[in-house]
Amino acid sequence: MQIDPILLNATFNPSPPPETPSWMNLGYWSSGATTYKEGCEALALMLGKAVRLSPTDSVLDVGCGRGDSLLLWSSHFATHQNVGVNLDPDECAVAAARGLEVSQMSATDPRVLLLAEDASVVLALDCSYHFAPSRRSFFESVRAHPNRPRLGVTDVVLKKSKRDMGYMEWFLVRCGCKMSGVPVQNLRTKEEYTNDLENAGFTNIEISVLNDGDVFGGFAAFVRRHKQTWVDALKREEGLFGNTPKLRRLQTMGKGWAHFDNSAAFMENVGTNMFSYVVVVASP
Ligand SMILES: C[S@@+](CC[C@H](N)C(=O)[O-])C[C@H]1O[C@@H](n2cnc3c(N)ncnc32)[C@H](O)[C@@H]1O
Repeated sequence: MQIDPILLNATFNPSPPPETPSWMNLGYWSSGATTYKEGCEALALMLGKAVRLSPTDSVLDVGCGRGDSLLLWSSHFATHQNVGVNLDPDECAVAAARGLEVSQMSATDPRVLLLAEDASVVLALDCSYHFAPSRRSFFESVRAHPNRPRLGVTDVVLKKSKRDMGYMEWFLVRCGCKMSGVPVQNLRTKEEYTNDLENAGFTNIEISVLNDGDVFGGFAAFVRRHKQTWVDALKREEGLFGNTPKLRRLQTMGKGWAHFDNSAAFMENVGTNMFSYVVVVASP
């Protein structure tokens, strides 16, 4: 259930600005954000504030996507050295074309922290639940860095453990994870997540649980609104039964829109019932 970031970021505008943002996260929506860019920026700024980013910081952004978070943190907090790592080579290429220093590597590669010898902060914005086979080796790599950097992560935890779930609940959780590319080893309750960080050697650990509507509910409402905006605008422009290139384009994008509907339904039904969205800050 990967939603096409082009659809998420697109605005119904005949002449979009050349520098189109390419965010790919679930966003923070209780900030009053209405567009996808605003929601994503709000989540990134929340993480930046949680780890107290400052101009003295050198940032390693792990799972940096197409580089939007690195650009935002460096402009908003004036962080002085900014390096990104991402698994996807195409996303790395986009980030590099924007002038960013980005390497293609998995967060779980033991060499990942060698990419940023000066790092004082390691951030993972809305991505560490994807790290395969699990995010634990990533925690260990951060902890082993000689600079003892602060760690800041936005992530997802289970509301209750597997043993407290019924068969159907566990089945739904597993289906959702399979559709979203989340390894089952990354399904942890807040307590288990805390243990993972402690076992990796972190001692100052703060895990803040956000309200269901802040991320999951807000994202679901946004994707429904976003799709409707396109449908309404096209109807206005083309007429209800039009068969013009733009309408045909919307139809060919149908798979992407279907993902919108699926993900909104998943966030509302499974996401908010089974998962909590958390902001994690830890240091050795
Ligand atoms: C939901 S997107 C978030 C991207 C970006 N942080 C943002 O906020 O726009 C998840 C990102 O994690 C990356 N990713 C997934 N598994 C990874 C891994 N093992 N190592 C590094 N990056 C990974 C994906 O390529 C994707 O860019």
